Parts: sequence; structure tokens; C-alpha cells
Amino acid sequence: MKNFYITTAIDYVNGSPHLGHAYEKVLTDVIARFRRMMGDRVHFLTGVDEHGQKIQQSARKSGKPPQQFVDEVSEEFREMCRKLNISNDDFIRTTEPRHKKVVRDILQKLYDAGEIYKAEYKGFYSTRQEQFLQEKDRNPDGTWPEIFGEVTEITESNYFFRLQKYQDWLISYLNENDSFVFPRYRQKQVLEFLSEPLNDLCISRPKERLEWGIPLPFDENFVTYVWFDALLNYYSAVVDKPGVWPADFHVIGKDILVPPHAVYWPIMLRAAGLPPPKALLAHGWWSINGAKMSKSTGNFVEPIQFANTYGADALRYFLIREMSVGQDSDFSQQQFLARYNAELANNLGNLVNRTLNMTNRFGGGVIPAAEAPQDAERELQALWNKTRDEAISLCEGFQFHIGLERTFAFITATNGYIEKRAPWKLGKSTVPEDQALLRLSLATMAEALRCGVSLLQAVMPETTQKIYGVLGHTPGAVWKEELVWGDRLSGKKVAETAILFPRPQTEKK
Ligand code: MSP
Repeated sequence: MKNFYITTAIDYVNGSPHLGHAYEKVLTDVIARFRRMMGDRVHFLTGVDEHGQKIQQSARKSGKPPQQFVDEVSEEFREMCRKLNISNDDFIRTTEPRHKKVVRDILQKLYDAGEIYKAEYKGFYSTRQEQFLQEKDRNPDGTWPEIFGEVTEITESNYFFRLQKYQDWLISYLNENDSFVFPRYRQKQVLEFLSEPLNDLCISRPKERLEWGIPLPFDENFVTYVWFDALLNYYSAVVDKPGVWPADFHVIGKDILVPPHAVYWPIMLRAAGLPPPKALLAHGWWSINGAKMSKSTGNFVEPIQFANTYGADALRYFLIREMSVGQDSDFSQQQFLARYNAELANNLGNLVNRTLNMTNRFGGGVIPAAEAPQDAERELQALWNKTRDEAISLCEGFQFHIGLERTFAFITATNGYIEKRAPWKLGKSTVPEDQALLRLSLATMAEALRCGVSLLQAVMPETTQKIYGVLGHTPGAVWKEELVWGDRLSGKKVAETAILFPRPQTEKK
């Protein structure tokens, strides 16, 4: 068995989870489930980033002590994972002792090795981004870009990590590992960033300015810069699990690829004598109705509420079907309902209902044994084999949206097959050939449904189980065997009805 360690970014708990957070969890969950189905031994980590200026400020605003504040908000993120059926094996919080210990140990090790030094810093600082700025960060007219918020000039002593020393190593590492970043074109952005000399990284904040952080082990007057603390979660969570590090994939948004994940992180590990992660997967951003998500303008989707209304699987399906991994997408209620109605309720929901209906009406509720296939059946089986092989290789390349499209094309074809065979007509005939054809068509539609649904398991785990259940099917332990067309449903008693996707909603804005 191959180990497969996958992580999400850890979310800031300065506010409630939103759709962007939900997407990243769902995407990573689909990959984790898919790898498990393919037979890997998966370790899936998610969690929350609880230190730093943003959190300290939000806690102050709420009038709560920071620990109480993060305890409460973190619970909402956990709740979101439960609600969305995220199959994470661990959930890390950066305020946990297990994490703080590793951060302090590594800082001490780097300090002892001369990788961290103290120096005076004079320059501009953005509180919002918790980052020191350089002249090149200014707008052409000399002002600071809005993303930095208020920028102040400061002079203070701080601790610096020797990033620059590793710049050449990182460049050759990236050149030798050209699939370090997915999608590949983003690796070019990393190299572009590295074409300018790197500055050493300021990894401390004086306690007068920021208290809410992990104190430096070698100077308790400072706390650790939040990114230095946060990135280490990926390692601290598995430090006592032999054989798990390095991570196979860190799934992150494109905004935190350069510099934190693609530059700071591999260099931090290198300096600490640890291997870098094998790959980074940078996904795109969701907008809502064409605009940036924002609570203040009400342009916001609450993932927990949304899943309560439409079901976790419907939300999971939409997120994965709509977005091509790496690119941006727009979330509109209208587009969600269009897919919900056409693809889930009508196409898949109808196939399930028809299969149950006709098996009950014409087969006494029992799926008949498969009879020798004719042309229409052979055609459908051939399409299944093609769909399955393509879908698997698409999923291996993170092209889940196309994998789903192909799977639904197969479901459409199965509905077409039913139209063609018209069992409702065959059921009225007493001619033995028609009766045989009826049995063949009932067996075929059930088997096609079972096969098709097996490809939906990573994206819609609950729906898959429900459909297996109404077909009287108990899947075996080996997923790949579920993908083989056969007659394992023969003699199975089907349910009367299934409620999967409540009747099509009217499409409202
Ligand atoms: N705490 C840091 C990450 C530290 S990882 C060691 C952080 N947190 S965040 O809450 O701002 O973002 C968490 C993740 O959500 C990031 O990967 C980010 O890209 C993603 N998203 C936040 N808004 C998003 C959208 N609108 N759309 C898709 N994902 C986005 O950054």
C-alpha cells in the first residue's frame, strides 16, 4: 500500500467559514476519497490557523479573550467539515500544545544552526497583511496598494530567517521537479518571483505589537510570525507518525502559493534538514454572482446553511462540477439550481426512480438475472467501459469536472437505453421474446445505474450509498471491482422508492 498524505490550507478563524473554505475542503476530500478508493493508505489533514494579528484584532472586537474566541470559531470550521462529509483523519489547531512544541523545537534548531539572526529593521509595515513592505510593493504613483491597508513606518529589532541563502537551491529544485506545482503554469510564476533576489524573512513580532502568537524559544519578548507558525502545521501534525512526511499534496488557493507555500515552506524544511513536500496544488477562487465574496454587501454563501437546504452532496457536486481545478469560477444560485434540477433531480434522480419503478411493476421488485445481451446492451456496456477508463484517468489528473461530465453522459445514455427498450410496452406483452427482453432490460438498467453511481462515490458519498441501498447492493471492499460490469445485482430486492434530490426547484434568481 502506498502512503498518500494530503492537506488543506489551515483557515484563519477571524470569521465564519465561507464558500471558498468549503470548496478547498471538498476538493481535498474528493482527492483523498479517490486515492483511498484506488487503494492508497491516505492521511488527510485539515485544520485552522489561530494566531496572529488578524485573530487578535477580531477577538478584541468581539470583546472575548483570544483563546475563547478561537475555541468558538474553530468549532464552526469543524462543524462545516462534519456537515460536508469531509473525511479528514486529523484536524489541527495551531494553539494546540502538540503544534507549539514542534514550532519551538524547529525555531531553536534553526537558531542554533545560525539560520536565524537578529537585526534592526527600519521600513514600512502592513498590519493587515502582517508583512514588511519594500519599495517595489508601491503603486507607480508612490501610494501603497489597497490590499495592504494602513501602512506605517517602523524601526525595530527582529529575528530574520536566512531565506536568501537557499534561493539558488530552490531554483534548481524547481527546475529539476517541473511538476512540483499543479497547474504547471503556476510553477512559472514561482520561478519568476525567484528571478529577483530574495530578502531574508522576518520571523518575529515584538510582543508589544502582537501578543497572540507562539513565543520564540530563544527570546520570549517576541512571538513567531504567523506564517512561520502556520506552515509548520503540516509537519507538526504527523511528527509522531512514521512514514507519513513528506506530504504528497498541499491543496491551497492561488493567493497563498507565492511566496508562502512555494518559497518559504520548502526553504524552511530544507534549512531544518527535512524533505520538501512532493507537490502543491493551487486552486482558483470563487466569486459570487460575478463579484468578490463579501459579508458586508451580503454577497456571501454560508456553506453550512446551504448544505442544510440542498444536501451536502448537491453542494459538493456543484463545486466539483462547476470549477476546473486551478481556474476561477462563479457561484450563482441560478446556475446551482440549473445543475441541481437538470443533472441531479432529472437525469440521475429519474434513472433511479425509473429503475425502481419498473423493477417493482414488471419484475416483482427483484432484479432479474442478466440474459445474453443484444446490440443495445452491448453498446451501453462498451460505453461504460470507455467512460470508466476515461473518468479514472481524468480524476488522476484532477480533471474531476470532466470526469463528472463523462459519468453523467453515461447516465443520460442509460436513460436513453430505457426509452429505446420501453419496458412499459414489453411489460404488456405476453410473447416470450418480449418477456425475455423485459428481463434483460431490467437487469441492464440496474447494472448500468450501479456502475455509473460507483464513479460518483468520491464526490457524492451519501448519494452513492443511498442508491446502492435501494438497489439492495452491498459494495465489496475493493472499489475497482465495483467498476466491472457484471450480474452482481441479480436476485436483489429493490426498494419501493428513493428520495434523493427533492423535486426540481423553480429557478429563481
Ligand atoms: N491561514 C492562511 C493559510 C495558512 S496555510 C499554512 C489563510 N487562511 S484563509 O482563511 O485566508 O484562506 C484559507 C484557504 O481558503 C486558502 O487556501 C484560500 O486560498 C482559500 N480561499 C479563501 N477565499 C477563497 C475563495 N473566494 N475561493 C476559493 N478559495 C479561497 O490564507
